[in-house]
Amino acid sequence: DRLPELVRALPKAELHMHIEGSLEPELIFALAQRNKVEIPYADVETLRHAYAFTNLQSFLDIYYAGASVLITEQDFYDMAWAYLKRAQADNVVHTEMFFDPQTHTARGVPVKTVIDGLHRACVDAGRQLGVSASLILCFLRHLSEEDAFATLEEALPHRDKFIGVGLDSSEVGHPPEKFARVFARCRELGLHLVAHAGEEGPPAYVWSALDVLKVERVDHGVQSSKDPALMQRLAEERIPLTVCPLSNLKLCVFPDLAAHNIKSLLDAGLVATINSDDPAYFGGYMNENWVQTFAATGLDARHAWQLAANSFEASFIEPPQKQAYM
Ligand code: ADE
Ligand code: ZN
Repeated sequence: DRLPELVRALPKAELHMHIEGSLEPELIFALAQRNKVEIPYADVETLRHAYAFTNLQSFLDIYYAGASVLITEQDFYDMAWAYLKRAQADNVVHTEMFFDPQTHTARGVPVKTVIDGLHRACVDAGRQLGVSASLILCFLRHLSEEDAFATLEEALPHRDKFIGVGLDSSEVGHPPEKFARVFARCRELGLHLVAHAGEEGPPAYVWSALDVLKVERVDHGVQSSKDPALMQRLAEERIPLTVCPLSNLKLCVFPDLAAHNIKSLLDAGLVATINSDDPAYFGGYMNENWVQTFAATGLDARHAWQLAANSFEASFIEPPQKQAYM
């Protein structure tokens, strides 16, 4: 069976990866030591053992704790560089990386430190790894819209170092409508717009991400399959879904990988993509997500080509470069 080989070798774009979710336990401990930050786990093994999640919130609690070791610009650079080298190994030739500034500003780390470190890694990845990399600033939806506006304000002097904004963190109870005004402002500023919707939340959140926030693509979106009218809209308007199968498995969105709906999304004509979300926490980077999903759900070589083409179509790469990839 040569399908895994083909899948691994395909050039692809990764569009849904939280850079703080690429922080491996080994790097968490190294940075904790370097910065003299206390973490409530004895060692790497104990920390890895805590990675048993029952839902999104049980993951987010540990994910935010892990990010507390990030203090200096070099820390952000080192984290991003480790991911970018790992992405290159999986034949990811383009990546759009999410970052969560509020996780750091809440601890007194300036937005400038976060963005400068991440952006320097993106520039070096283009030059030294042949991986094009850009940044998407995410607002934490469990915080207020006022807090999101303050974060945007602090980030705007660095407008040239990120291409868009997104919306992440605890979904249920924090619908897209809560961020209508700040997304409208970002739209005026010419930023690309995305949002997590339909991960654990209902199809109604996907509708409002589209109609209220006016996002260009939907992160996760797997709950859309519960709403035939929504499926039709996504297919007709070619609105991409950035699906993350191993994340969905580890956060119990689906009971097992064989039950994942990626194949039916693709076969319904949706521009679905496969991504890693938080690879250090969910047991796999890009190729691990692809290979395990192909094996479990019966995707074939045509699906592989479709998924790779979708990843470039769904990307914010500017034409004519974009067409060259597709
Ligand atoms: N932040 C990091 N990963 C996330 C996910 N899968 N959903 C919502 N917020 C996140
Ligand atoms: Zn995500």
